Amino acid sequence: MKEKKKLTTTSGRAYNEYEDSMTAGPRGPVLLQDYFLHEKLAHFNRERIPERIVHAKGTGALGKFTVEHDITKYTCAKLFSKVGNTCKMLARFSTVAGEKGSADTERDPRGFALKFYTEDGNWDLVGNNTPVFFIKDAKKFPDFIHTQKRDPKTNLKSPTMMWDFWSLNPESLHQVMILFSDRGTPDGFRGMNGYGSNTYSMINHSNERIWVKFHFKTLQGISTLTWPEAEIIKGKDPDHAQRDLVNAIANADFPKWALKIQVMTESQAKKFKWNPFDVTKIWPHADYPLIDVGTMELNEIPVNYFANVEQAAFAPANVVDGISFSPDKMLQGRILAYPDAHRYRLGANYEQLPVNRPITEVHNYNRDGFMTIDNNGGDSPNYHPNSFDNIETKVHYKEPPMHLDSNVADTYNRNEHDDDHYTQPGNLFRKVMNENERTNTIFNFVTSMKGITGEKRDEIIQRQLSHFFKADKDLAWRVGKGLDFKFKE
Ligand code: HEM
Repeated sequence: MKEKKKLTTTSGRAYNEYEDSMTAGPRGPVLLQDYFLHEKLAHFNRERIPERIVHAKGTGALGKFTVEHDITKYTCAKLFSKVGNTCKMLARFSTVAGEKGSADTERDPRGFALKFYTEDGNWDLVGNNTPVFFIKDAKKFPDFIHTQKRDPKTNLKSPTMMWDFWSLNPESLHQVMILFSDRGTPDGFRGMNGYGSNTYSMINHSNERIWVKFHFKTLQGISTLTWPEAEIIKGKDPDHAQRDLVNAIANADFPKWALKIQVMTESQAKKFKWNPFDVTKIWPHADYPLIDVGTMELNEIPVNYFANVEQAAFAPANVVDGISFSPDKMLQGRILAYPDAHRYRLGANYEQLPVNRPITEVHNYNRDGFMTIDNNGGDSPNYHPNSFDNIETKVHYKEPPMHLDSNVADTYNRNEHDDDHYTQPGNLFRKVMNENERTNTIFNFVTSMKGITGEKRDEIIQRQLSHFFKADKDLAWRVGKGLDFKFKE
């Protein structure tokens, strides 16, 4: 039998009475000196922290990544230095727009956030289950997310806001097309792919940089829901995807994903038809084939959800030697946004929390701040340069310089083909989807667009149909027919 533990206050004082408050006489009143009562009520009032501004509803699992193929010609990252290397990791899957208690089967991209605890420090790959995104500039992100959240007056989700924004931002069309296919309602997290989506770079031992995209292919097979199926599950089990993952891991049916990369040299990037750093575009697989790297397996549900999942802080800023950024405007914005969000949500020392702490030692001159929970640098100097400590500050690793196209600073920089928002979504609809997928996508578009209301309804529908038309005439025609929409002059 387990040894009994004694009940204590949070400061460790033994306390024997848990259920009854200390009172003057059996009928009360309650005495002010019942400190345990105060502590309990006060701590309860402070249980909630701000939920993530996006991706609030999520599920986490721990696992292992194993390197199975040699990619050292692309990267000098220690993780990839040898076939057979393994690394502990954390994954968090999520929906985007819904609140912490929202339903798992909502139509939404799914977050696919990974933290690799490598010998070089933490590498976070914060992706989605889609290879592209709705916008290509971080400046539009808050506006876009406002349209996915609640109407400022009714506090309801609003298809009018969504379609108004999408129709005014045709760069969203590619992602909208994926979102309204049945990939927009995955049947749980195990049956979906993950994508780094943004373009990153890898740097090898010769200090050469190559552009890279990350793909995690589900080894469970893709599994999606139709709109009606997703609606039914939403009511029956809002935690459908979380339950599926927790149960699979409990039954030792560990889900796995194969990591593959696409690479593009700097000279290929110059000749690529589209901007290779535009997150609304994919790199066609025929031209940039997938290269095998390794396998990720999730095999453990963290012992405490709040400590290890709610407090997990993923950031595209967390790269390691051998993996780096690209000029991708969205990625550049994300490098700032995530650590800023974590400081707000978890506090300035969020990286000291066990789930976020790297397995490597941390040495720098940052000190103090709320909730400092490591030894705060002990008695070592808190300034640099100094004559006392032995931290090596000369550069041990230096990235190659990034070549820029231009040094003209402007806010409206466009290249040829940057406004081609139609070729890739058109190809997706015609060439990648089969007829059943096209039919479901059209049904999903029509069902959602029927929710557009108000004086701007026709204007919004007409604008969106014109984008569909530019991508694929059949698509526009079938959605227009489903909406019984008459074009106006
Ligand atoms: C510039 C555009 C973007 C901005 C400003 C942005 C910002 C944010 C912020 C502030 C959070 C909440 C972080 C937290 O409180 O823990 C978040 C979460 C997240 N974002 Fe983004 N985001 C952007 C684009 C993207 C893109 C393109 C992807 C996918 C490729 C993505 C994937 C995620 C994921 C997966 C999470 C949840 C991470 C977790 O599980 O904790 N975001 N984003």
